[in-house]
Amino acid sequence: MTESTDREIIPNLLSIGAEVPENVVTNEDLEKTVDTSDEWITSRTGIKHRHVLGDEETPSSLGVEASREAIDKSIVDADDIDLVIVATNISDMPIPGSSPFITNDLNLSSDIPFFDIKAGCSGFLYAMDVAAQMVKGGAYEEILIVGLEALSRVVNWEDRSTCVLFGDGAGAAVISARGERGRILSTSMYGDPSKADLITLEGGGTRLPPAKGDEEDGRYYIKMKGKGVFKSAVNMMKRSSLEVLEDAGLSLSDVDWIVPHQANIRIIKQLAKTLSVGMDRIIVNVDEYANTSTATIPLALKEGVEEGSIRSGDVVLLTAFGAGAAYGATLLEW
Ligand code: ACO
Repeated sequence: MTESTDREIIPNLLSIGAEVPENVVTNEDLEKTVDTSDEWITSRTGIKHRHVLGDEETPSSLGVEASREAIDKSIVDADDIDLVIVATNISDMPIPGSSPFITNDLNLSSDIPFFDIKAGCSGFLYAMDVAAQMVKGGAYEEILIVGLEALSRVVNWEDRSTCVLFGDGAGAAVISARGERGRILSTSMYGDPSKADLITLEGGGTRLPPAKGDEEDGRYYIKMKGKGVFKSAVNMMKRSSLEVLEDAGLSLSDVDWIVPHQANIRIIKQLAKTLSVGMDRIIVNVDEYANTSTATIPLALKEGVEEGSIRSGDVVLLTAFGAGAAYGATLLEW
């Protein structure tokens, strides 16, 4: 847990970029391939569409496009970026991570460091916390953070309990000591490793190496204990949200907008109810993109800003939960 004071360097989120594949898969499309219905998916999840990478597309290209947008919209030049952090649950390849590909494709300085973070759907907020601490500490000045996910590549498209839930996407932001917008007031990262079995993809790691893989083996697809996730999600987001508010000396009534992880509209509504916050103060776009994991927060934040909902000076609370179980929250002044 960290808190900004007047004497410290206050890191800023200078800009936000996001990208999704053009290809859209609707609930009606899924009705043709698995035993499901638009009514079931909409009522249980709020999802109507998901954007899915084509076979020829490279997942990290989404991260590159989102990053280009974030850098272009910021006051820094690509040459000023001195660190790249990519949050992803499953990178382009097991080795190396996605960060070197993104750094290279962006033509950033050839000797800057980069690394991947794996923290479930909370990865973007984890990356933001790490970047904020590094900027505060003075070790780095302009950090590019990226949330990149192509879960369509590891979803079993014959399993109706998971394939309806996920979409592909990427988001990026520039975190810097410069600038006056997007002040990061407080950040938090938490975990409950006793719940690490709630969301898993067993195959492809060293317990079950890629070379032993077989398309018929369900362990090479993402699996989830949906009800268990549902039960924990609200408590996790509530706890981390209240903690960042307390750290910043603010309360929920000071918050103009909440941007929660977009996994399921019922979880979002339950969070709103538990916090006694109206849905009119919550940014929701799960209907359009489904759960894009590490990309949901930047996709929703960008939408909130571009639609004119989130305005200069607004206090914005970001909160997420995901595999691990890793969760956290960030408080921004936009
Ligand atoms: N279409 C139709 N029926 C379905 C579908 C589907 N797509 N999926 C499941 N069902 C069926 C089940 O088989 C079950 O049938 P049965 O009663 O005959 O056994 C029935 O619907 C009810 O299933 P439940 O699992 O009880 O449905 P529930 O209301 O719990 O909703 C859901 C399931 C949507 C997954 C919900 O539990 C949920 O949203 N959980 C949280 C998921 C989440 O947030 N994941 C994000 C984390 S993922 C990550 O971080 C990478």
